[in-house]
Amino acid sequence: MPGRLDGKVAIVTGGGSGFGKAISAKFVAEGAKVLIAEMHPESGVAVAKELGCESIQADVTKRDHWQKVLQKSIELYGGPDVVVNNAGTCYSSKPSHEVTDEEYDLTMLVNYKSIYLSVAEIVPWMKENKKGGSFINIASSGAIRPKPNLTWYCGSKAAVNAASRSLAQEYATNNIRFNSVCPQFADTGLSHRFLGKPNTPENRAYFMSLIPLGRMTDVTDVANGCCYLASEEANYVTGTELIIDGGRCA
Ligand SMILES: NC(=O)c1ccc[n+]([C@@H]2O[C@H](COP(=O)([O-])OP(=O)(O)OC[C@H]3O[C@@H](n4cnc5c(N)ncnc54)[C@H](O)[C@@H]3O)[C@@H](O)[C@H]2O)c1
Repeated sequence: MPGRLDGKVAIVTGGGSGFGKAISAKFVAEGAKVLIAEMHPESGVAVAKELGCESIQADVTKRDHWQKVLQKSIELYGGPDVVVNNAGTCYSSKPSHEVTDEEYDLTMLVNYKSIYLSVAEIVPWMKENKKGGSFINIASSGAIRPKPNLTWYCGSKAAVNAASRSLAQEYATNNIRFNSVCPQFADTGLSHRFLGKPNTPENRAYFMSLIPLGRMTDVTDVANGCCYLASEEANYVTGTELIIDGGRCA
C-alpha cells in the first residue's frame, strides 16, 4: 500500500512528547521522512529511535536553531516539504493578572515567535528549492473559544490562527500552504498546566463536561488531521483552521 506521505520530508517541532510524538509516528507510518526538532534532547532521541526517524536538539524560539534544523533536514533528506509547528507551552492556569512577565514572554516566544522564525528561515528555501510546501501550525480550540485563567495562552494561539490565514494568502502563489489545527484538551505533558492542578480524572471532569462527544482529544485525532493537511489530498486547502475538539466550539 502506498503511504499518504510517500516522498514527503517533514520537520516536526516538539516531537518528543504528546501531539508531536503522535504526529511524527503517523507521518513515518505514512511514508514521510521526519526530522524531530525538540528542545529536550533525550526525549527527541528516544522518540526518533522508537519511530525510525531522526532528531535534532533545537529551541524553536532561536533563529540560529531554525537554521541548524533546516541544514540538517537538507543533509539528511533533501530539505522539508512540510513543517509542523507543534512545540508549545503554557503557564499553569491562574488569574490573568497574576501571570508573570517571564511566563507571558515564554508563552508568546514559544507559541508565536516560533511561527515567525520558521517562516523567515524555511520559506525562502522552499521558494527556491521546492514546488510548494505545507506549514501546519498547532493552535488550540482556546483560540476560538478562549478559557478564563488561560487568557494569554489563548491569545497566543489566536495569533497563530491569524498569522496562518495571512500567510496562506501571502504565499499561495508559491504553492506554500498554511493551515492551523485547533485541538481540545488532551492527555499530554501540558495537561496539568491547563488544569492548574494534577491531571486526574476528578480534575479533568469539568473540561470533559464541556465536550459534546464526551471524551478528551486523543493525540491520534490530531495526528490524523495533520496527515491530511500535509498530504496531496489537501492540495487545495490553505488558510483553514481544522478544529479537532469533539464539538466544543460548535
Ligand atoms: N494538550 C492539550 O490539551 C492541547 C490542546 C490544544 C493545543 N495544544 C498544543 O499542542 C502542542 C503540543 O503540546 P502537547 O500538549 O503535546 O504538550 P507536550 O508538553 O506533551 O509536548 C510539547 C513538546 O514541545 C517541546 N518544546 C517546548 N518548548 C520548546 C521549544 N522552545 N523548542 C522546541 N521544543 C519545545 C517540549 O519539550 C515537548 O516535547 C502545543 O502547541 C500546545 O499548545 C495542546
